[in-house]
Amino acid sequence: MQSAEVTAVPVLAGWQQVHQPVLLQHQVELWVYQLNTAIPQLSGNKWLKLKYHIALAQQAQKAGFLTFGGAFSNHLAAVAAMCKYHGLKSLAYVRADQLDKHNPTLAFCLQQGMQIQLLNRNQYRWRNDADFLLQLQQQHQHLLIVPEGGSSIAGAMGVAELDLDLTPAGNASHIICAAASGGTLAGVINGSGCKILGIAVVKDPSLPDRITQLLQSDDKQQHWSLNTDFCGAGYARFDNSILQFCRDMAQQRLYLEPIYTGKALAGVFTLIKRGYFPPGSRLSFFHTGGLQGLAGLHYRNLITTADFALLSGSSAG
Ligand SMILES: Cc1ncc(COP(=O)(O)O)c(C=O)c1O
Repeated sequence: MQSAEVTAVPVLAGWQQVHQPVLLQHQVELWVYQLNTAIPQLSGNKWLKLKYHIALAQQAQKAGFLTFGGAFSNHLAAVAAMCKYHGLKSLAYVRADQLDKHNPTLAFCLQQGMQIQLLNRNQYRWRNDADFLLQLQQQHQHLLIVPEGGSSIAGAMGVAELDLDLTPAGNASHIICAAASGGTLAGVINGSGCKILGIAVVKDPSLPDRITQLLQSDDKQQHWSLNTDFCGAGYARFDNSILQFCRDMAQQRLYLEPIYTGKALAGVFTLIKRGYFPPGSRLSFFHTGGLQGLAGLHYRNLITTADFALLSGSSAG
């Protein structure tokens, strides 16, 4: 698969070391890798997960993408932005009973030119069903079907290009990221040699199998594990301790949201306190983006205006 024709979105990548007394106590170093793009909705894992889908669409002379997501999905915002940037069409099947044009994620998607079709909760369960996908492909032959979350071989391939093993202080002992549809973790495993830990933010018993299906070789199996202790009440649900953790990190200018990166990194701190990482460990945490989701949390009154400003970095002096 070639990426030569994929127009590169300008990228600013870098490492940030986290300083907390608990890290000193347990003799663990923590580095966060951030990949910020000029289009914020493509930051984190998003541009990487979509770039080879663009290449596939170009090779197959498709006019755009057809994809799936929830009404506040980071992936939908990313697909809308990525397609617009590359002059492609985008069509999304969204899990919702009605189209709320005030929802900030959907408003952004519509503004980027994305077409939206609604699926109710039951219909949305078909999103990975082979017959349903065949039917959709026949209806939309000019579009490339991109699975939910961009988690496919192509999605994992983009993420595998990251060099998360080498922090500014030297080789990492562990690489860690949040896992939901699994493509990011699979890409990290395919691209790295050290121990890899995914922190599941969804309760999905099929997740380990879905990750395994995207691995390049069997010998990658030994290097990774998936922790499922930190889903809490489930996907997109978070308690005040996660929110407080995101606030504390924002004070250090590390901006997280409570559904993916905040939940996963808070889990890492719990693991550190439990002594999971041996003294001398150097952790490399991949910041997978998703700050666009804060606007949706604010819109639904799940976070206050003050928290919205603090967590998105707009109140930073
Ligand atoms: C911000 C953020 N972090 C992590 C993930 C998890 O990535 P994946 O779905 O590839 O497991 C997602 C979902 O794509 C996300 O939006």
